[in-house]
Amino acid sequence: MKFVIATGNEGKVREFKRILEPMGFEVSSLKEMGLSLDVEETGATFAENARIKAKEACRLTGLAAIADDSGLCVDALGGAPGVYSARYSGEGDDGNNQKLLRELAGVPAEERTGRYVCAISCIFPDQTELTAEGTCEGMIGYALSGNHGFGYDPLFYVGDRSFGQYGDEEKDAISHRGKALRAFCEKLKERQAKTMDERRKKIDYK
Ligand code: IMP
Repeated sequence: MKFVIATGNEGKVREFKRILEPMGFEVSSLKEMGLSLDVEETGATFAENARIKAKEACRLTGLAAIADDSGLCVDALGGAPGVYSARYSGEGDDGNNQKLLRELAGVPAEERTGRYVCAISCIFPDQTELTAEGTCEGMIGYALSGNHGFGYDPLFYVGDRSFGQYGDEEKDAISHRGKALRAFCEKLKERQAKTMDERRKKIDYK
């Protein structure tokens, strides 16, 4: 089965492919198909926004569409930027990171806790949905560090390094997206086994 990845975020596309392709899934991004997603993320939760994006990509392509909605939830900021992570400053990744540092000025190290959250929705052409979630706990640093990853990675510390200093596989092994995608793959395998089972039963009864 071929899937389309319902995002225009190149950082996410790289991570989706890195994790899904070795598991045997054929995936294309919307960009590779000459398409782009034009939807408003009006959901109040990551899961709702993921569903909105997956539905639209499925409608556009006729393929099973996988979307994630993800973001950073910082405890000292009451969970912000949360679902607004991508548009926190209105000025892209650099502006977002600078705004986060400003908002956390004066917050001591032990209170700079937060987590990345990733909700995945896959909408199939028959409009059924498969969902999965993953989280990754970390701390928000005082300055940007490292040039790997994307978004808030240079400020998001797990252990003594920021995700900006993690290698690709290291990040995938513990990241919110890595966990969500592996959980999604398990559910997808179960769904495929169930479908095969139902087909077999129908044949048996004939
Ligand atoms: P979305 O595309 O609406 O889901 O927005 C996701 C936003 O959350 C990104 O633009 C980043 O700002 C942030 N984000 C989500 N996952 C990550 C990650 O793995 N690293 C860094 N930032 C992330």
